[in-house]
Amino acid sequence: MSDVELTGLTKRFGETLAVDDVSLRVEEGEFFSLLGPSGCGKTTTLRMIAGFVRPNEGQVFIGGEDMTLLPPEKRGIGIVFQNYAIFPHMTVFDNIAFGLKMRKVPKREIRGRVGKALEQVNLDGYERRYQRELSGGEQQRVALARVLITEPKILLLDEPLSALDKKLREEMKYWIKGLQHSLAITTV
Ligand SMILES: Nc1ncnc2c1ncn2[C@@H]1O[C@H](COP(=O)(O)OP(=O)(O)OP(=O)(O)O)[C@@H](O)[C@H]1O
Ligand SMILES: [Mg+2]
Repeated sequence: MSDVELTGLTKRFGETLAVDDVSLRVEEGEFFSLLGPSGCGKTTTLRMIAGFVRPNEGQVFIGGEDMTLLPPEKRGIGIVFQNYAIFPHMTVFDNIAFGLKMRKVPKREIRGRVGKALEQVNLDGYERRYQRELSGGEQQRVALARVLITEPKILLLDEPLSALDKKLREEMKYWIKGLQHSLAITTV
């Protein structure tokens, strides 16, 4: 578990000032929300925390360490992207196992960890299903399980509810909050 600190974070894309001098601190285990109108720089800020976008100015500290110049895979961060889709040609199991397979984790261990991740998102028994056989909320939970299985220190969620209808959005809102609380994972 870690805290996140941003100091004077600024990002320009050509003429566009996407993020303007953002400083903030997210405490260990905190659930921190970025709110603002479309285009105000929320996604860009998350991408800088994750390491996919390099800031023009400012720094990103995770667990007190300066991560500003480190690549995403060295940061111990899990990110669920905006409008994130799971791989349609893979089963739920293979979707969740994907990251571990890439890292050549032994099959036996993968099976155990996928089982645990499925439990965390309340999808026991869904291993063999495909995307087309899942509701929007279930797909979102698979996307979350894919990230949780890598045991990130920080969880970044970019509008995790935007693809869902109003009723499901309400349900998922509480569900995500409950999960975050039980895992005590720092979440933005
Ligand atoms: N790769 C890019 N190249 C050029 N401009 C970009 C790029 N990414 C983002 N921008 C611009 O930076 C600004 C911030 O974009 P960003 O995606 O961070 O906004 P946002 O707050 O996430 O918006 P939304 O709520 O619509 O998702 C916008 O003006 C956008 O057009
Ligand atoms: Mg966005």
